[in-house]
Amino acid sequence: MRLLVTGGDGFIGSNFIHYWFGRHPKDSIVNVDKLTYAAVPSNLDGVGKYDYEFIRGDIADKKLADRVSKDVDAIINFAAETHVDNSIASSERFVHSNVVGVHTLLEASRKHEKRFHHVSTDEVYGALPLHSSRKFDEKSAYKPQNPYSATKAAADHLVNAYFHTYRMKLTISNCSNNLGPRQHKEKLIPKAITNALAGRKIPVYGKGLQVRDWIYVLDHCSALELILRKGEYGSTYLIGANQERRNIDVVRQILRELGKPESLIEYVKDRAGHDPRYAIDAGKIKEELGWRPKYSFNKALRETIKWYVGSSAA
Ligand SMILES: NC(=O)c1ccc[n+]([C@@H]2O[C@H](COP(=O)([O-])OP(=O)(O)OC[C@H]3O[C@@H](n4cnc5c(N)ncnc54)[C@H](O)[C@@H]3O)[C@@H](O)[C@H]2O)c1
Repeated sequence: MRLLVTGGDGFIGSNFIHYWFGRHPKDSIVNVDKLTYAAVPSNLDGVGKYDYEFIRGDIADKKLADRVSKDVDAIINFAAETHVDNSIASSERFVHSNVVGVHTLLEASRKHEKRFHHVSTDEVYGALPLHSSRKFDEKSAYKPQNPYSATKAAADHLVNAYFHTYRMKLTISNCSNNLGPRQHKEKLIPKAITNALAGRKIPVYGKGLQVRDWIYVLDHCSALELILRKGEYGSTYLIGANQERRNIDVVRQILRELGKPESLIEYVKDRAGHDPRYAIDAGKIKEELGWRPKYSFNKALRETIKWYVGSSAA
């Protein structure tokens, strides 16, 4: 199999490339990444021993998208602007990469009749009330509430519309919050770990009561592999590991694991329009594709901490 991975220098894309080569060492991967501030090229240390090619470029570049799509068996799109806070400050780049970029990849996939999987987020469904047992599923209505999630929702709509219009080999996955190695330090868990290790304050929005449904990044990767191989064209799959945690409890657990004091927590003004809770019902991918997550939250957090401790010592 020859795969085109976009955004492979980011958090999930790089874990996916390591995961894929670990399981399919004879396959080849072309990674197209613009290398924005969020890219960490060292995330891909070690892949040179495989059939791997890196191309620095923008998924919204039509000529590039056309050229790199031609000779691959499948395309999996991770490339995106991903930080909600940045999208609140200015959303132009988000529209460019997350909407125009996906449209460009869809056009290239259409021209060359390629299998295309789009990696999306549960944030497209908006938020759930804090105190409820409701979860998002494939029938939930789209209701994005910040510029980041609005651009991801727009891309999902394009993918669905392309399926209905052109009957292409398309699938979408909407995953909950990932944790694991190689995530940019701007995000909650890496920031909490690296700040705690350095003895710096850890900013927590509001009172930290927002709830996120956490999944280890390698469990996300195994779900993506199944969808790529067996997903039904035109389908959306929600991915989550049923591990809801309040942000403040996640930060406290990190401090406990590292033996650091809770006085490092610094409550800061809440994010504008902060979604209170996300939660995923992953019943469809479990029933239809037989997917099961392997990592408990505690194990995932320990693996993640171990990786950041190792990389801060290196
Ligand atoms: N991190 C999560 O918890 C999570 C959860 C669900 C879904 N997702 C989705 O998964 C995907 C990957 O997320 P992540 O956390 O790894 O993001 P990330 O910010 O760590 O990495 C994004 C990568 O995309 C690249 N990129 C950005 N714009 C590009 C463009 N126009 N052309 C080419 N490359 C470009 C960046 O350079 C970077 O390497 C995103 O689509 C995101 O919406 C993330």
